[in-house]
Amino acid sequence: MQKKLEQLRNDALKAIASASGEEQLQGIRVRLLGRKGELTALMKGLGALSPEERPSIGQLVNSVRDNIESTLEAALNAELERVKCERLQSEKIDVTLPGRNAQVGTKHPVSLVVEEVCEIFAGLGFSVAEGPEIEHDWYNFEALNFPPEHPARDMQDTFFVENDLLLRTHTSPVQIRTMLKQKPPVRIIAPGTVYRCDSDATHSPMFHQIEGLMVDKGVSFGDLKGILTVFTNQLFGQNTGVRLRPSFFPFTEPSAEVDIACVICGGKGCRVCKNSGWLEILGAGMVDPEVYRHVNYDPEDISGFAFGMGIERIAMLKYGINDMRLLFENDVRFLRQF
Ligand code: PHE
Repeated sequence: MQKKLEQLRNDALKAIASASGEEQLQGIRVRLLGRKGELTALMKGLGALSPEERPSIGQLVNSVRDNIESTLEAALNAELERVKCERLQSEKIDVTLPGRNAQVGTKHPVSLVVEEVCEIFAGLGFSVAEGPEIEHDWYNFEALNFPPEHPARDMQDTFFVENDLLLRTHTSPVQIRTMLKQKPPVRIIAPGTVYRCDSDATHSPMFHQIEGLMVDKGVSFGDLKGILTVFTNQLFGQNTGVRLRPSFFPFTEPSAEVDIACVICGGKGCRVCKNSGWLEILGAGMVDPEVYRHVNYDPEDISGFAFGMGIERIAMLKYGINDMRLLFENDVRFLRQF
């Protein structure tokens, strides 16, 4: 009996020393000290001992049990402490690490150009006007001197909505809406979204234009050229060459296409300007008397000019963007550059 107890003690202490983790230690406790445990079984055998043996063996049993219990207790405490340290270590916060900054958005290049153009014209006394994107045929075409069936309507690749409603193909209807609302003098700049059924690397079915309109007594073609020269010099840099070529729009007469010296090659000729040295950036002209008739202005009394430009095209030239689709994909890696 004594030997068995000593053996049990030695085995128990060895097992505790080599156990790893709380689960194994609890397992040892159950195996030795539990109700069906090995030590418990030995203690049940005490009754069979002779009265002389009983006290000393009884003492030994108690000491073995205490010994195992206290060793187990110590091992368990050490284990709990180890687990706690490990957790604290893994949850440690390094307060010296730099913080994570919130991502700040940037303005879209189209917005940047709209703002810059509006600002330049604000400096020239123009105020901002707006109109609806779903427009009546009358404002988009008829009042701008595109009679029904006129071939110039074909150039606009119109999206029709229903009956006489369409998606405006240009910002020129804002000219009409403004002149119907107000008497001369008029100096407005009208940025907005326009739609045409057209889509490739340089055309998008939805794009943006800025319209300009100035009507007053004695406004001349020279004023148009002067204002546009001031404008292009401010937008693209002083002494950017400007050239006007004869053109046609139903609502202006005479009409012109306005070019600037190529901002890429400076006029020497390159791929972007197709070796011409010039880049077309807007359409313009003197408001046709026929338009004044639709808004009850007297062409004998006043005169004026209008111009319209595509914003995406200007953004592409200004920022060196070679595919218009980049402006509509909303890829933040692209947009963050502005
Ligand atoms: N609305 C014309 C276009 O979209 C541009 C333009 C505006 C031309 C004003 C002349 C005067 O092509």
